[in-house]
Amino acid sequence: MSDDTIEPREPVDGAIRGLAASDVATARWLWRNGQLVPWDEATVHITAVGHSSVAAVFEGIKAYRAAGGQRLLVFRLDEHVDRLFASARICRTRIPYSAGELRDAVLDVLRANEYRDDTYIRPWAFPSGLIREQMVPAAAVCEVVIDTWSFASQLFTAKACRAAVSSWVRVGDSAMPPRAKAFSNYHNGRLAVIEAKANGHDWPILLNDRHQVSEGAGACIALVRRGTVVTPPLTAGVLESVTRATALTLLADAGVPVEERTVDRTELYLADEIFFLGTAWEVLPVGVVDGLPVGDGEPGPVTRLLQHAYHDVVRGVRLDHPDWITEVPR
Ligand SMILES: Cc1ncc(COP(=O)(O)O)c(C=O)c1O
Repeated sequence: MSDDTIEPREPVDGAIRGLAASDVATARWLWRNGQLVPWDEATVHITAVGHSSVAAVFEGIKAYRAAGGQRLLVFRLDEHVDRLFASARICRTRIPYSAGELRDAVLDVLRANEYRDDTYIRPWAFPSGLIREQMVPAAAVCEVVIDTWSFASQLFTAKACRAAVSSWVRVGDSAMPPRAKAFSNYHNGRLAVIEAKANGHDWPILLNDRHQVSEGAGACIALVRRGTVVTPPLTAGVLESVTRATALTLLADAGVPVEERTVDRTELYLADEIFFLGTAWEVLPVGVVDGLPVGDGEPGPVTRLLQHAYHDVVRGVRLDHPDWITEVPR
């Protein structure tokens, strides 16, 4: 092999190469297969990437700074760990740890990295080693890794976004089950994001194979009309979102009527308010949909109410849902 075949190629103009660890601040420790390992030492052989990712499942969890940095609170850790196992079950892979072990692992890796501020947590499970079979067998043993990085909340700083209905259709339960949080499903949302941005929007809204509203690329969606919050049902081709479930409870707590039902595309055009819901997105207002302003284009009163309720519950200000919060022990 000549030297030039192993030199990394320069990207063409405007192309993005994957980040090198030296480009970004990474955690000092990550959790891998039962132990904390230094970030730089968590390597795999080059042949182990590729088909192993076809069957990989993951989670996205947030930990929030509370009490001026004295406390770090993981939001709905049990629900996220349960969903990781649900995704693995749907994808026919086996995670060789218990839910309790993974829950402790999340707390261990947060503590080892001495986080004080908002942090994103990504556990994932992938068939380990050299996978030469295109159809990764169900018996393949999974590795589990938990990576973390700083991720400040944008609950009150993000501007209302511009969304557009995508020409890409949300994958369906009988093809690529969206109920599983599987890496391979994200090619669907990825294509929709690329299309939305190419057309001058911020984010796509995907319709499902029945032409009804399903969700965004990495978030669920809800609209408000005449004071009622409406969100597509869990059978509309959506991930069983923890934030969506949280929002439905917080809205009900506040006496706001909520409906889970199929949503037509044109209901988006008549909505007084629209917002995305997700662990990373939190409660993100939509100001424009398919070029039409939503209400006056600014976050509406229900969106604001929900943002404040969400803020108070994730930061431990509000104490009426104690089972949603797991404090990282010192
Ligand atoms: C496709 C998709 N839908 C919805 C969500 C929202 O889920 P959650 O609220 O559990 O983060 C996510 C985020 O993980 C997602 O990737």
